[in-house]
Amino acid sequence: MKKTCKLCWGINIILLLAVAYAGYIFTVRGNVVKGDDGRIAVLMTGKDRVRILGEMRGFLETVQSISEAAAQGDMKTVEKIARANGSSKVRAETPAFLASLPLEFKSLGMNTHANFDKLADFAATNPKPAALMAKLSDDMLNCVACHQTYQLKATQ
Ligand code: HEC
Repeated sequence: MKKTCKLCWGINIILLLAVAYAGYIFTVRGNVVKGDDGRIAVLMTGKDRVRILGEMRGFLETVQSISEAAAQGDMKTVEKIARANGSSKVRAETPAFLASLPLEFKSLGMNTHANFDKLADFAATNPKPAALMAKLSDDMLNCVACHQTYQLKATQ
């Protein structure tokens, strides 16, 4: 009897650890391997990779257009572009896809969109171009941090 219960406890602990590990994989670590250049490679289908890279080129266009408008002191246009790329742009992803992304990757991504909302609010106060550019530059530290840490790898 005593022996059986010890076995039960053992199995319970193993199950608990397995659940905790699965929770960690699905919420924190994501579906990743070590990348060939030392960065963390986030695994996804070729289709998702192409889609994310397309969104990235959209980010680049956004920061270019914002810089151009800010240089001309056109804060109305800055506000419009920044707003269009804010949190409203975040598309509904499937739970499975979200689970495959590392937590830090997700929060950097969401934060980047949220920062565009804040930049739009700031542009609405009609700041000096230099002040707007300083904020954009700060926001772009997110782009830099994510690119330094992650790459995308297609699994199929
Ligand atoms: C959540 C992480 C993350 C954030 C935030 C992020 N990127 Fe990226 N970006 C990536 C990854 C990962 C790649 C692919 C890198 C690789 O596989 O080598 C990428 C690729 C790109 C590319 C190349 C696209 C292509 O077609 O190859 C551009 C351009 C880019 N990002 C611009 C930006 C800009 C500008 C920002 C900030 C406004 C930004 N990204 C923010 C993760 C991020």
